[in-house]
Amino acid sequence: MALPRLFQPFPLQKMEREMTPFFWFHARKSLSLPLNEPSPSINCTSDRVCSLISPFPKKDVPMKKKEESQGSMCPRISFNHKSVLAKEVVDFLQPKPGMTILDGTLGGGGHAELFLKAGATVIGLDRDPEALAYASERLKIFGDRFIPIEGNYVNADKYLEAIGINKVDGILLDLGVSSYQLDTPERGFSFQKEGPLDMRMGNSSITAAEIINSAPLSELLSIFRNYGEEPRAMMMATRIIRERQHQSITTTTQLSSILAAGMPLGPRHPATRVFQALRIAVNEEITQLEEALPRLANILEPKGATGAGRLAIITFHSLEDRPVKKFFRKYSALEMDDPTWPAPRPNPNRIFALPKNWSLEASTEEISRNPRSRSARLRMAEHI
Ligand SMILES: C[S@@+](CC[C@H](N)C(=O)[O-])C[C@H]1O[C@@H](n2cnc3c(N)ncnc32)[C@H](O)[C@@H]1O
Repeated sequence: MALPRLFQPFPLQKMEREMTPFFWFHARKSLSLPLNEPSPSINCTSDRVCSLISPFPKKDVPMKKKEESQGSMCPRISFNHKSVLAKEVVDFLQPKPGMTILDGTLGGGGHAELFLKAGATVIGLDRDPEALAYASERLKIFGDRFIPIEGNYVNADKYLEAIGINKVDGILLDLGVSSYQLDTPERGFSFQKEGPLDMRMGNSSITAAEIINSAPLSELLSIFRNYGEEPRAMMMATRIIRERQHQSITTTTQLSSILAAGMPLGPRHPATRVFQALRIAVNEEITQLEEALPRLANILEPKGATGAGRLAIITFHSLEDRPVKKFFRKYSALEMDDPTWPAPRPNPNRIFALPKNWSLEASTEEISRNPRSRSARLRMAEHI
């Protein structure tokens, strides 16, 4: 697929004129923000990174301050992230020259690099500007075949449209946070490292501290139960409400000591589930995944002379895996059934065929090399 060069005047003007109102209508809807907010402006921080700048005021808690870069847009950060299930992803997506692959969760660019090395063109999306800057620097050797975009994969269809691409041959989502995000105390993801209670992957509207200090009991309970499957949700939520009446809860270690006080220390730290739940709530991870799945399927090339578009999704826990499994099953089933029907009927919505092994886990060898891969599951579907 021939790609237009980025940042020629026409695509940018076109994006400003035609794309952003739609983009912001949906963004505001999903963030429950008022629909009469101003539209974003397009900001090209270099001739290779295009970002949509939010018109909403910046939050009090700043994201980690980037270290000074020396003439390069890449912050000097050590991005310590090992890509999981990399061979399996490449075997399934089969990157090659002439193919365009959307990496919706670029991170450190590990998977993207393999696609690029195999000759494919890669559109790399990440909502985290630090990840995007790092990966852009790492992958700049691939020239125009690598197109980095700062943004949320839920809006991938709009970004592609804005750069003149309708369909892609492969899509990868490698969900969750990167090791870099987890290991950077200033990002506030880890209960083991002192940092602000932030947890935003990008410019999401709220921080974890805002939820912890202002959400009513019922909302804390629902977050801890639904996104953390925390059996002691009521106890955890009550402790937080009691503590915040005396002082604001603003740091990771402050919250983890409130949650862990007097609790037996087992193999799993008592704050683990609450931290996971908060991260998912702050970044709207599950709702955005559910919204993104049908939109991503729409931009996948259907089966043709050059093969079929393929969708690969790596999940790390059952909350992520459930909607993916359900979506793949629903749109690949040959038939649908209902207790009120005399017999099953052909599925009119079938768009996917699932490979025989459509769900893979990391090998024991990979788990020993990269313990983070132990909970990873790769789900795969092919457009028909
Ligand atoms: C597990 S890391 C990806 C690692 C990458 N595959 C690699 O090999 O280096 C997940 C990345 O996805 C990004 N991310 C998570 N949710 C996102 C979303 N809704 N839209 C865009 N990026 C997202 C995170 O910021 C993070 O950098």
